[in-house]
Amino acid sequence: MAQAVERPGLLSLAAGFTDPASLPREAVASAARLRLAPDAPTEPLQYGTNQGRLELRELLAARLARAEPGLDPGLLGRGMLVTNGSQQALYLAVQTLCDPGDLVLVEQPTYFVFLEMLSGLGVGARAIPVDDSGLADPEALRRRLVEWRRTGEAERLRAVYLVSYYSNPSGRSLDADRKERLAEVLSEAGLVIPVVEDAAYRELHFREPHPAASVLSLPAWASFPKLYAQTLTKPFATGLKLGYAVCDDETWRLKMQHVKGHQDFGSSNFAQALVATALGNGDYDRQLERVRPIYEAKRDALETALAPLRARGWTWEQPAGGLYLWLAAPRGLETSMDSALCRACLEAGVLYVPGDLCLPAPAEGRFVRLSFALLPVDALAEAGRRFVAVAERLTAG
Ligand SMILES: Cc1ncc(COP(=O)(O)O)c(C=O)c1O
Repeated sequence: MAQAVERPGLLSLAAGFTDPASLPREAVASAARLRLAPDAPTEPLQYGTNQGRLELRELLAARLARAEPGLDPGLLGRGMLVTNGSQQALYLAVQTLCDPGDLVLVEQPTYFVFLEMLSGLGVGARAIPVDDSGLADPEALRRRLVEWRRTGEAERLRAVYLVSYYSNPSGRSLDADRKERLAEVLSEAGLVIPVVEDAAYRELHFREPHPAASVLSLPAWASFPKLYAQTLTKPFATGLKLGYAVCDDETWRLKMQHVKGHQDFGSSNFAQALVATALGNGDYDRQLERVRPIYEAKRDALETALAPLRARGWTWEQPAGGLYLWLAAPRGLETSMDSALCRACLEAGVLYVPGDLCLPAPAEGRFVRLSFALLPVDALAEAGRRFVAVAERLTAG
């Protein structure tokens, strides 16, 4: 990020920013005009509450209940905490669950900021093994848990973290069956530990929404304490920096709320009022309708530029949502921060996220995360060309 700021001309495929050109200037301006009209109450300019604006919680709860019929909007609203982006919800969740030395079960790859956060809190990560499709493998997890019982690591597992819709970084989603099998394996191993489901990209599908229900309504997760986190930054006005968590465990939620109170006594009340207005008048949904084809076209532009790499043994799956491509380099080609590839990309003026940052140790260093959200289409094509030129030079054969 610092390099990108310091070196103009450097094209960043690394930053997980949203598309600047389509940010909802008009929707935010009209919400602000409404909230600041001379006859409007000044209350949104006053402090709010730790838990978050009731109006916003009710709108979000009704929205989630529409996506997952069967969930009770009343319960969702009461169990909801509005946060400064979903990042804060993740932090509060781990901070209130874990002590240094504890362990959290994660997918591989997973959201690298989450891994950094765990390490900052002195908490370790253990990877759920994956199958040939690259998805979490419940049967392999069962075997791993037996091993971790033997080593004493199973006793230190405090939570499981899933990025289950168009994941950052893999772009993959977990189907309901696989998500339920994971719960069954944990339960059979006597590990009914809290689950944190991070649904940051759930609404950023390009065509149809992913059909899997969240852990909140899947029966196999019923007895687990659950926290479901979603962001309002990626689908709408990123800079308003709001997110939320629904937590069905009252004690855990109150602990998080308490800590949040110490940090900030509630997220920006005004920002919440703006988002509530946009959710209520349909602008939020119109914005989503607007950005979905934009991100799909950007994905296509980057994939087209990268296509020559397929003949050189590079592989990736086409994501149906989210903001990222997850590339596997041919075996033997290193992609980590101090690799020749990374240095040569920097020289060539293109930045990527080394995939080993997204993997719990010991990490394989042959993956690359590329974000197609920030750059305009022509710059994406140029960034892709620069990456391909370097990768072709360094890929044997
Ligand atoms: C998987 C995932 N979770 C959570 C976040 C946090 O986002 P925010 O704090 O903007 O809601 C991000 C941001 O990139 C993310 O990729």
